[in-house]
Amino acid sequence: MKVEALTAAIEDQSLTPQEKAQAVYQHSMGMMERLVEHPTSENILTSKQAVSAITDLILSDDQTAKSLLRITSHDFYTYTHSVNVGVTAIMLAKALFSKSDAHDLHELGAGFFLHDLGKVKVDTAIINKPGRLTDREMQRMRTHPYQGYKMLAEAGALSEECRYIVMQHHEFTDGSGYPKRLKGDEIHIYGHICGIADVFDALTAERSYKKAMTPFDALKLMQQQMSHHFDRELFSRFVLLFQ
Ligand SMILES: [Fe+2]
Ligand SMILES: [Fe+2]
Repeated sequence: MKVEALTAAIEDQSLTPQEKAQAVYQHSMGMMERLVEHPTSENILTSKQAVSAITDLILSDDQTAKSLLRITSHDFYTYTHSVNVGVTAIMLAKALFSKSDAHDLHELGAGFFLHDLGKVKVDTAIINKPGRLTDREMQRMRTHPYQGYKMLAEAGALSEECRYIVMQHHEFTDGSGYPKRLKGDEIHIYGHICGIADVFDALTAERSYKKAMTPFDALKLMQQQMSHHFDRELFSRFVLLFQ
């Protein structure tokens, strides 16, 4: 992974916000693709560096950040999904925390981008299976939060923030999530944030067996049929990102 190419794009003054967002998105996709293919400790650490540069960009350049949000694309691969969730969740964290020093948005950014890293330990036939999984397959799939947590720990890339994100991004406020069926406040705010971004991307992504929903329809569905899954306040703030 060439972090240099990414930073060069970020620092290139001649690019318009749209062009810059496009370049950063392409580099991020390449980075996640390589990471998913070779999830070595070294690649995990390099990705963390790259995400740090992307986080800086999102924090400092509103226009490019908005463009980035608009181009998150809608085909489904773990790496596309990771970049989409990474960008969207950092945007939400920025909206919530930019006035406070209590949150390290770079660590958060790494956690968001790497939230599904553990999927590389799950059989690809299960990951890519169109439609419903059997109970056994579902059980395997549901190990990915812990697998990811373990990989980050082994890479020495694990901050507390990342740990909450990777372990809790499938927990839901009403206790219907996994792996621990945590409820409400038992779920860390970072886990809540990633969970919202994760569902949103799953709905707006195109899969072999379903069409992509528009952001508007996805937000409406989350509001009307899934609101018990999310923290009310965080979800309201999330909706505002798209206005
Ligand atoms: Fe996940
Ligand atoms: Fe995910």
